[in-house]
Amino acid sequence: MCGIVGYIGSKEAYEILIKGLHRLEYRGYDSAGIALINGNRELSVYKAKGKVSALEDSVAEKDTTGTIGIAHTRWATHGEPNVVNAHPHYSQSKTLALVHNGIIENYKTLREVLVKHGYKFDSETDTEVLVELIEYMKESHGCDLVRAVHLALKNVVGAYAIAILDKNNPNRIIAARKGSPLIVGIGGTKEGETPEFFLGSDATPIIEYTDQVVYLKDEEIVVLNRDGSYEITNLNNVQQTPQLQTLQVSLDQLEKGGYPHFMLKEIHEQPKALRTCIGSRINKRQKDVILSGIIDHKDKFLKARRIIICACGTSWHAALIGKYFIEEAAHIPVEVEYASEFRYRNPVIFPDDVMIAVSQSGETADTLAAIKLAKEKGAFIYGVCNVIGSSIAREAESGTYIHVGPEIGVASTKAFTGQVTTLSLIGLAIAKEKKTLSDEIYTMLVDELNNIPEKMQWTLDNNKGIDNFAQMFTYCKNFIYLGRGYNYPVALEGALKLKEISYIHAEGYPAAEMKHGPIALVDEEMPVVVIAPKRGMYDKVVSNIQEIKSRKGKIISVVTEGDETVRVLSDYCFVIPDTRDCFVPLLAVLPLQLLSYYVAVAKGRNVDQPRNLAKSVTVE
Ligand code: G6P
Repeated sequence: MCGIVGYIGSKEAYEILIKGLHRLEYRGYDSAGIALINGNRELSVYKAKGKVSALEDSVAEKDTTGTIGIAHTRWATHGEPNVVNAHPHYSQSKTLALVHNGIIENYKTLREVLVKHGYKFDSETDTEVLVELIEYMKESHGCDLVRAVHLALKNVVGAYAIAILDKNNPNRIIAARKGSPLIVGIGGTKEGETPEFFLGSDATPIIEYTDQVVYLKDEEIVVLNRDGSYEITNLNNVQQTPQLQTLQVSLDQLEKGGYPHFMLKEIHEQPKALRTCIGSRINKRQKDVILSGIIDHKDKFLKARRIIICACGTSWHAALIGKYFIEEAAHIPVEVEYASEFRYRNPVIFPDDVMIAVSQSGETADTLAAIKLAKEKGAFIYGVCNVIGSSIAREAESGTYIHVGPEIGVASTKAFTGQVTTLSLIGLAIAKEKKTLSDEIYTMLVDELNNIPEKMQWTLDNNKGIDNFAQMFTYCKNFIYLGRGYNYPVALEGALKLKEISYIHAEGYPAAEMKHGPIALVDEEMPVVVIAPKRGMYDKVVSNIQEIKSRKGKIISVVTEGDETVRVLSDYCFVIPDTRDCFVPLLAVLPLQLLSYYVAVAKGRNVDQPRNLAKSVTVE
């Protein structure tokens, strides 16, 4: 949660920082702030409650000059979202300003100690404690600021990515990370250019200026100097060798490209994104899956007693579909765990367990902690992430990127279908090694997975008019989503999408469970979305629809093209082309994403930045 940007160089920092904050706004949008040092060595901090645009309005008349600065967009953890609690935070002497992403768990103890030494606090945040601690270390040890940062961070329990400005030294930014991500962009490296450095919680504020980056590692501190030199040390002040990497993201992937919202763009991008996800992993001529992450560690999968898939949110729904497929294709028992539950219940892990961590951002704090725990207990860790070089991707011993490009809308869409596709590829790759599928079935499944991007395009082209239809549901207070087998997780995901962005209460259920409770809620006011493809359990789902119909519920169904039986029973129908059971979720979820999108738009919601949510949950 929270986004950090920083700049030092020869350009005016303000524009770069504000643009960067807009790109990071998906990480939090409760309040925003900026700190700049101008040509007279004055350190100014400006903050505003609400979005980055509120900050821009509030500084309209202020001095925003300066070629060095740091900025922050907040998702509140300690202290309500207001101007006082917004970052950057000054130190007591107002010579330092600091921005922070993460949680300092022992901040209360540290605060008590600092209060005893005469420090006063304006805010309720853990961040102000950190900047005061750094100042205290500097003064009590009589040392340089970099040393003071080392000493302060050694006393901190918790997670942090920080950046610090020092009024007395306008020629350097000091930054550090543990648990929360931080990337350094290195610009002005060509002949005749002036050196400059950028900081970002992810690559999006950096990519416009340079593709040369260093991903800071845990417990590393970097000093970025105006003359282009930089140094990375660890908490023990031992110099570290930076690993320069080239970013793979392009700028147009970060723009809306003519769509009113990132979410709508990302929904429509899915056929192309999945084509990239499948990419070279399927050999089309030989109808074969090649996943080096599995091939290189095939012994782990051949002897795996079970697979545990760990995830949160939408990724957890994708994990459930992955479970069904891997069990069916590779005959390995699969358990799906909420990372936040798993990490705190002393789970039984065998050394021949494989844990697959599914995470779009690769930064979700609970998922990261879960894989660290499983690794400690001897499990083999496989990552399924979208963000290249993210913490989970680096912590995993092997893995497969989903390669769907940056996802900016807070409600996950293309990452979900990318995760389901990648888990299907993994299931097929393990099945090939274990020889659990006949050649005929294996080839047929590979071939069909390869056809999915085309069928997704068909689905998007043949479900127009959802915008008009969605208007009717703006006054609903509840929705039920039903599905069976592979489509039960789709029901969960459809309900989550609606909840997240329209704030209408929605529940997903296995269709047959409806009669054990939810059916009591059904009346003429209740829309029930049923995923009813003409595949396995079709007849049983039709019976479930009839049960709802006889209680006057409104049926919105997802049906296979040409199915008249369910169409007649439904008040509204979405159509999908026929595909194998295991791949229906990849098509059925598309109209459900569009339904939630258009209901939210009709209700005037902020679709890309729904209230109280953040794209990446890097705190507990
Ligand atoms: C947040 C996001 C969700 C996402 C979940 C897990 O809640 O709003 O869209 O599914 O985190 O995130 P991850 O990056 O681990 O997939």
